[in-house]
Formats: sequence, C-alpha cells, structure tokens
Amino acid sequence: ATANAAPTLTIPYGAAVRGDVLVDDYNYRKALIDHCQLIVAEGSMKWESIHPTPDRFDFYDGDKLINFAEQNGMKMRGHTLVWYAAMPEWALAIKGANQANSEMSRHIETVVGRYRGRIPSWDVVNEAVADEPTASDYLRPNVWLENLGKDYLATAFRRAHASDDQVQLVINEYDIECVGEQYKRRREALLRIVRDLRDRDVPVHAVGLQGHLRGELEIDKHALSEFVSQVKAMGLDVLVTELDVTDNLLPPDQQERDTIVASRVEDFLGAIFDAARPTAIVTWGISDRHTWVPMYFTREDGRHNRPLPLDRNYRPKAMMEVIERFTRT
Ligand code: G3I
Repeated sequence: ATANAAPTLTIPYGAAVRGDVLVDDYNYRKALIDHCQLIVAEGSMKWESIHPTPDRFDFYDGDKLINFAEQNGMKMRGHTLVWYAAMPEWALAIKGANQANSEMSRHIETVVGRYRGRIPSWDVVNEAVADEPTASDYLRPNVWLENLGKDYLATAFRRAHASDDQVQLVINEYDIECVGEQYKRRREALLRIVRDLRDRDVPVHAVGLQGHLRGELEIDKHALSEFVSQVKAMGLDVLVTELDVTDNLLPPDQQERDTIVASRVEDFLGAIFDAARPTAIVTWGISDRHTWVPMYFTREDGRHNRPLPLDRNYRPKAMMEVIERFTRT
C-alpha cells in the first residue's frame, strides 16, 4: 500500500445499536457510519422484542436497523435466538418436549427466515454455560434445558442452519477470559459443548467471546490464547461480540481510566490474536453516551462510565486506537 492510501480494514469492526437511539440521535448515526462495517441489535432481535406474544412477530425495530445498515454499506449480525433472558412471559411458560421443540423451531425459522441472505452471522445460543459449572452440571438452566434436555443446543443450531445455510452460526459466551478456577471450568464447559456438537455433526461455526471486561480485573491471557487455539483446532472460528470495559471501580481521573480500559482491551485482543484472527470485533455500543454499563455498574462518585471506544461526544478514546490497530493490517 502507498503511504497515502486509506488503511484497509481486514477485520470488520462493529457495534451494538439501539433502535430508539438510532432515531433520536444524529451524532450516533454518524459515528456508526464513520466507524463501523457491522452492527448488531442490542435488544431489537431478542425474543421478547421480536416475538412478544405467541401469534405476533414484531420486526419493526429489526427492520429499521437492518435497513440502516444496508443503506450505509454495513453488514448486520443477529443477536440472539436462544437465551434464558429477555424472554416474554408466554415463552417462559412453555411446557413439555413437544411444545418446546415446536415453539423453538418456529421462532428460529421465522426470525432467521425473515432476514435470510441479509444477516451473515447469528448468535444462535447465548450464554449456555452455567455460572459455576461442575462436571455433571455445566449448562445454565433455562426453559429449553428444562423441557428438552441438552439436546436443545443441537436443535437450535440445526433449525438455524435449515433456515439459512449461508449463516455463520455462533455460540456466544461471557467471562471466558477471567482468572481463576471457576473460569477455567467455564472454558472447559464451553469446549465440551462445542466438542459435543461437532461430534454429532451439528452445524456450529464459531465461538463468540463477548468480552465484557472489568477494569479492575486482570485477564488470563495464557488461558484465553489456549482456549482460542482449542476452538480453532476443532475447526471453528472465534469472534469478539460484545466488547466493553466496566470502569465503576477504577479511579476518577479520566485519563487514567481510559488508559486502563485501553490496556484491558489490548490484553484481551492480544491474547486472542496470539492464537487466531477473529472474524469480527464488535463492541457493545459505540459511545459512552449510550451504554448498558451504568444500569448495573454505576460509579459511586457520580461520574459517567467510560466503557466504550468513543466518549459521550463521539470523540475516539484510547480504546478506539487499540481496536483500530488490531483490525487494520
Ligand atoms: O426501553 C426501556 C425503557 O423504556 C424503560 O424506561 C427502561 C426502564 O428500566 O427500560 C428500558 O429497557 C431496558 C433496555 O435494556 C434498554 O436498552 C430493559 O429494561 C433492560 O432489561 C435492557 O437490558 C439489556 C439486557 O441485555 C437485557 O436484554 C441491555 O440493554 C443490553 O445491553 C444487555 O445486553 C446483554 C447481551 O444481550 C448479552 N450479553 C450481556 C449483555 C449485557 O448485559
């Protein structure tokens, strides 16, 4: 490349987007267009939003996001088909294997089918691993596990594949990078799930590493690299799906906080890249102005959280520089 050529992005960077904010905030739209090759719905395609009652699918927000993406030359990821949370009451009340099977299949076929050919990557199963897994009990309880047993995983991926066979099917998980015995068991549980699916020829193509990092916690870089290598050895890709850094326990000084946040991202991405190149890097929001973090991790000093690549005025922070370094050649 010549010195003046625009940098080539070799790994798509993207962000989670909220439908309501997209309508209200011009600067938000502009930031997404300026920085992203990819977006994902932060909530609009979750079960409770897209399938609020048994007989009604509501694609209003999902369509709005995908149209915005396509009009601006971006791709869209799908999030998420099967998850214990963001479920409407009616779906939580599903009882028995027959009903569970048919409702899950109908949901997946309808939603994936709606966007067939337009969404190249879906989070099929989200957060399947138990918080504190043991050898005999490693799956998180949910309505599907309760009614279908662990076969629910295979069913979900098979239905998704049958609905659009061009889609990268992702199993998405958090806290894979943390230090400690509990997290070692979480990594083992996830590898076991993936191995199980592969052994049964279930179509599953990638592991999504959410990457909700915590500013005050070290990352187990060695274990993360090792995990990614093992995923690759099974023939699957990895991608980063929900990167952000909670900073509620970090010092008040902005500069200091931004530096720590960026260095966590550096450690996380560095460890992944040491083993393999992810197929995408997605942050869970783009600007500190619109982030889920203060809902759960409010700062006691009343200062705003700074978990994302752009500040509240859409100016790039150190975290964005790190991401750009990893996504560009
Ligand atoms: O829209 C309403 C608003 O009208 C109302 O005033 C307000 C009062 O609580 O609630 C608003 O909805 C909230 C919505 O976020 C706003 O974006 C919901 O209550 C709240 O449950 C919802 O939380 C989302 C959460 O998933 C549960 O679906 C977060 O935004 C979203 O960032 C979070 O994302 C998850 C990923 O899907 C999976 N991985 C973890 C990640 C972070 O928790």
